[in-house]
Amino acid sequence: GIDARVDSLLDRMTLEEKIGQLTLFTSDLTTTGPTMRDDYRKLINEGRTGAIFNAYGADYTRKLQKMAVENSRLGIPLLFGYDVIHGFRTIFPIPLAEAASWDPDLARRSAQTAAREAAAAGLHWTFAPMVDVSRDPRWGRIAESAGEDPYLNVRFAEERVRGFQGEDLENPETILATAKHFAAYGAAEGGRDYNTVNMSNQRLWEVYLPPFKAALDAGVGTFMTAFNEYNGVPATGSQYLFNTILRDAWNFEGFVVTDYTSIPEMIAHGAAAGETAAVEMAMNANVDMDMQSGLYLKELPRLVEEGRISEEQVDRSVRRILRLKYELGLFQDPYRYSDADREDKELLSARNRELARKVARESVVLLKNENNLLPLSRDISELAVIGPLADNQQELLGSWSAAGDADDNVTVLEGIRQKLGGETAIHYRRGSDITGTSADQFDEAVQAAEQAEVAIVVLGEEALMSGEAASRATLDLPGVQQELLEQIHATGTPVVFVMMNGRPLTITWADQHIPAILETWFLGTEGGHAIADILFGDDNPSGKLPVTFPRAVGQVPYYYNHKNTGRPMTDQKYTSKYIDVENSPLYPFGYGLSYTSFDYGGLQLSRQTMRPDDSLHIRVEVENTGKREGEEVVQLYIRDLSASVTRPIKEMRAFQKIKLQPGQEKTVSFTLTGEDFSFYNQELKKVVEPGRFKIFVGTNARDVLETELLIQ
Ligand code: IFM
Repeated sequence: GIDARVDSLLDRMTLEEKIGQLTLFTSDLTTTGPTMRDDYRKLINEGRTGAIFNAYGADYTRKLQKMAVENSRLGIPLLFGYDVIHGFRTIFPIPLAEAASWDPDLARRSAQTAAREAAAAGLHWTFAPMVDVSRDPRWGRIAESAGEDPYLNVRFAEERVRGFQGEDLENPETILATAKHFAAYGAAEGGRDYNTVNMSNQRLWEVYLPPFKAALDAGVGTFMTAFNEYNGVPATGSQYLFNTILRDAWNFEGFVVTDYTSIPEMIAHGAAAGETAAVEMAMNANVDMDMQSGLYLKELPRLVEEGRISEEQVDRSVRRILRLKYELGLFQDPYRYSDADREDKELLSARNRELARKVARESVVLLKNENNLLPLSRDISELAVIGPLADNQQELLGSWSAAGDADDNVTVLEGIRQKLGGETAIHYRRGSDITGTSADQFDEAVQAAEQAEVAIVVLGEEALMSGEAASRATLDLPGVQQELLEQIHATGTPVVFVMMNGRPLTITWADQHIPAILETWFLGTEGGHAIADILFGDDNPSGKLPVTFPRAVGQVPYYYNHKNTGRPMTDQKYTSKYIDVENSPLYPFGYGLSYTSFDYGGLQLSRQTMRPDDSLHIRVEVENTGKREGEEVVQLYIRDLSASVTRPIKEMRAFQKIKLQPGQEKTVSFTLTGEDFSFYNQELKKVVEPGRFKIFVGTNARDVLETELLIQ
């Protein structure tokens, strides 16, 4: 078996070679941090680094692999990792967008495609999925998450892991996945990246851990530490997170990698007095692989010699890493992933682009559609297409775009041109920059709008305004885009506002004045095709928001599953609210319109009372009351009305995406068990407490039918 082979290899390794296996360096491609080593090749030859990231391409990885296999003493193959976050060469919608599809199965297929492309280009390992619950849109990395809800994050986490890893790691079309960033990174104070996290363990277990547990249950091979501290201890040195939870409570057997240089960062955190102490902390927290700092290489030999870290600790980590290298089949054939033929056929293949287009369509959320302005008729004779994102290939990539090439991207303008052929006169004007302050191009944009029957205005953020190190203190349209939108609106020509952004934006003015609004996030390679499909009705939008859209940035963090407080908001003065903003979301969690309409009725429970070991069946009738086929996401929430620990006003427990023909009615059924009504009590035990519960079913977290249940 693998364990015997790992042990016999381990027996032949020097301490230095062992530490090499615990070391990961970047190649000379892109990096995201301060440290850069140019002698990584020397280290490969000497067997002093077991893994490389940011190196891809069948030929390049083959070359590096050859150095490890032929030049190092034991010839242990390298592991190649990379941030394959939403596609490798064929770029899919950013993860937040994909979560708006509410179709985890589709996310599995996009991850599978990304894995196939990445594996052909020599990669074995992706630093994805990010499963950090994200409740603060100021935090740029919300773009990489499945949004604010634990359950939605769970569903996407497990399917993405399955998509990347497949059934069998040895299959050279799949790659190892990483659940990151452990843990609670999404709760950075003020939404400022890398910032402090302090919260109750109850909240950690209830909100932030479930997606990690789901990734683990789906078989994820590796975990990545988080940059933040958790309750006073940097995650990378947290024995609570890694020993107590991940290893002891959850029995995780894969390996843990640091996030970049988070070992030495423990010095700046004020948790380690120096490099030696930082290494000790990380090793004692069972953090197996050091990304990029080189400190394991530098400090561990002495620490082992002095007996401060035992050789058994080192061996344990080496074992975890070697085991996965065996499981990937690297000892059988170290080059099996670096396959130039496969790379040639696989990257950006027609089938991959087709799936990217489908996922992109499913990711779009229709936020407003007054008087059914959308879909547009193809018979328009004069159309204005305006905005700095309308013909922008670069930004469509979103953040973390791996080997994505902007030249492959279909812009909105291009998608519309292809859709309309030559019949319509299309007047394209950029109007402004994304972030610039100049209004010089306004006049020509206004003239184009005046001439047109409809103006499609494509505005939003630059791709790198979200993602890592891209927190924002405001959620407005950057630059002068808001003014541009107002001027186009003032022409009286009906405006379709197409948004591109990596987080919720506060588009309160647009919601009041612009008749049609489409949230398209960053959709990747096929973005323009997908948007044109929706604008002209070849596809009916069915996306739903995975995150609440606030009216003003001061409302954040603003998530649907909040607590009630002792003074829930009313018209009275002394209640929990802001005095200078309407106290509701602009668009609630789960919100999204369609070109057709749905009616809900007949909410029924199989029983009015249940015991914790009973099952409960819930039925609701959903009817398509409009004129075209459409998909609807039927959402089920619960509320525990009183408990030993106060509970959120709603918590999603299930959803189903259904397709209905015009006039068709369907009965949608859900089954809940006692587990669905459980929570962590003050002793951190999962319990179901008897009492009254509400059950809600509806089209978003606000618009629901409700009924009551008694648990005995
Ligand atoms: O995987 C990423 C991580 O999410 C943020 N820091 C850098 C890592 C490697 O690129």
